This record gives sequence, C-alpha cells and structure tokens, in this order.
Amino acid sequence: MNKKVLRNLSYGVYAVSALGENRMSGCIANSIMQITSSPATLAVSMNHDNYTHGCIEKSGMFAVSILSEKTDPNIISQLGFQSSRDVDKFMNVPFITKHNIAVVDDACGYLVCKVIDKMETNTHTVFLGKIIDCDMLNQETPMTYAYYHNIIKGKSPKNAPTYQPEDLDTVDSASSDSSITSSNSSGNGKWVCSICGYVYDGDIPFEELPDTFVCPICKQGKDKFKQR
Ligand SMILES: Cc1cc2nc3c(=O)[nH]c(=O)nc-3n(C[C@H](O)[C@H](O)[C@H](O)COP(=O)(O)O)c2cc1C
Repeated sequence: MNKKVLRNLSYGVYAVSALGENRMSGCIANSIMQITSSPATLAVSMNHDNYTHGCIEKSGMFAVSILSEKTDPNIISQLGFQSSRDVDKFMNVPFITKHNIAVVDDACGYLVCKVIDKMETNTHTVFLGKIIDCDMLNQETPMTYAYYHNIIKGKSPKNAPTYQPEDLDTVDSASSDSSITSSNSSGNGKWVCSICGYVYDGDIPFEELPDTFVCPICKQGKDKFKQR
C-alpha cells in the first residue's frame, strides 16, 4: 500500500470552534466535507484528545471558519499547535460570535452546525452537523491544505486525521540535530522549526536573521529551529 497517494486528496483549512465551559474553544481541522445538500450537512473528523471534541459533545453545536490564503498564519499556530485545555486561544485570535460560538473574523466564510449524528473510530469522532447558519465574510481565496503545505510550508500534528509519520520524522530528526547557537553552523541544510515543522526559505540566510525572528506558523523563537 503506497500511502503517499493519500497526499493527493484535497481539503481546505478550517477553524472548528465550540462553546467551552469558561471560554471559547477551537482548533484547526482539514478533515471537513459537505455530505448532503438537503438538509445541508457537514462531516467533521475530530480527535478524541482535542479539547474541542469534548466541547462539541457537550454543547451539540460547532462552527467552522473557512480560512483564506490571506488569513494570518499565526491563527493556525494559535489554534492548531496548542490546546484550549491549557490556554485561552481566542485571547490572541480576533473573533466574532455566531450563535454564541467564536468565528475567526479573518476567515472568508463561516458555517454554524447543530450535531445530528456521529460515528466513532479508534482515534476520531466524525460529527455530522446540520448547517443552521452560514455566510461569506470576504471575497478572499479559501486556503487549501495543499497551499498550507506547499506555500506556507506548514505541518500537521499527530491529531490531524491526515497526519503522515514522515511529517513528524522530519521534525524529530531536526530536533536531534545540534543547536543553532553555534556560529559556524553554516551547513547547506534547511532550517526547520522543531515545534511545527515549518521550513525557513526566506532570502536572508537563517543565521543572519535577528534574534527576534519567530516561526510564522507557531511563533516559537529562533532557538527552536534546527538545521537538517
Ligand atoms: C493543518 C492542520 C490540520 C488539522 N486537522 C485536524 C483535523 O481535521 N481533526 C483534528 O481532530 N485535529 C486536526 N488538527 C489538530 C488540532 O488542530 C490540534 O490538535 C489542536 O491543538 C487541538 O486543540 P484543542 O485541544 O484546543 O481542541 C489539525 C492541525 C493542523 C495544524
């Protein structure tokens, strides 16, 4: 079985949000699709370990914000690489509310759904949501998963249903390399963020970037980059 072919499936990049106990919760998801038109219904695959999963179960509602190519990548880092269990993610993500659920205001559209059914797998619950409200927020081009990987050079963490082990191998092997603090570390390899796997490909040599440089995806400092 050549699992590389799975990379040829197409997705968008979304924020899925739900009402938490004390605050808004939400995470990034790509495994979302419309499954019927009447009633208009979405399927969302949500990892059991995601805090957002429990919020959807308890509230029976969720919202999907459709991210665009112009959406600040910091929103993906805020929502996709940390848990609402530990931080109030929407402190740093501007949002509007629809049906009491946070919607990313930098998104190009949103859908609010009421859970009508669900299916369990070992790792993920597939929630079926009947769309009760939706609208466009701007005319920007929706971000595809391919754009996220190929243009933004983003990675997907293990909780993403489409995660492939090579993603983590890349990050792990980068982590095991020597630290970048050495002044003679001018190898030809690429500099990779050990947190989210972002590969630096800017015009300025990585070593010459200021110490204030942060990963555009997960906002970790320069010290988290390793050469591979
Ligand atoms: C590009 C991308 C796609 C993702 N897709 C999914 C997905 O479809 N389903 C899922 O359960 N998690 C997905 N994740 C992982 C969650 O966003 C991540 O585990 C998040 O930290 C969970 O936050 P929470 O605990 O606050 O819910 C994805 C992450 C990224 C960066």
